[in-house]
Amino acid sequence: MPSFSLKINGKNMTVNTDADTPLLWVLRDELNMVGTKYGCGIGQCGACTVHVDGSATRSCLVQVSAADGMEITTIEGLSEDGSHPLQEAWKEVDVPQCGYCQSGQIMTAASFLKENPNPSQSEIRQAMNGNICRCASYNRIEKAVAIAAQKSN
Ligand code: FES
Ligand code: FES
Repeated sequence: MPSFSLKINGKNMTVNTDADTPLLWVLRDELNMVGTKYGCGIGQCGACTVHVDGSATRSCLVQVSAADGMEITTIEGLSEDGSHPLQEAWKEVDVPQCGYCQSGQIMTAASFLKENPNPSQSEIRQAMNGNICRCASYNRIEKAVAIAAQKSN
């Protein structure tokens, strides 16, 4: 079985698995990091979003061989204690309903706010557009992203 070196949430990890195993399966099944969710498995929902070398990336579409040597951040590593401005804003607005999509939403928003720390409402809507929420928490997500941007500025 081939071996791959991943740096996940600042820690070096080695996994032995087939080269075409999706990063999502490695996170959830090999490393028991289940904050990253499986929604569609085909890049359509955003539930599996993590950061790969700082960019929001759908981990169901990334083969572990392509992530070898890259820096990966998951929801578990976004902050040590849930104090990232987005996590604080999420609590303030009470965003989640079932919660299933929310780690992907937050990871997408975190990458977006790094690139655009002072977004307009329409820019927030556009940035979050590809992350599906079956509970339709979209208005609360937009509000929370705007609050997080204010808190960070
Ligand atoms: S599970 Fe990856 S985009 Fe839906
Ligand atoms: S909170 Fe239920 S899918 Fe988004």
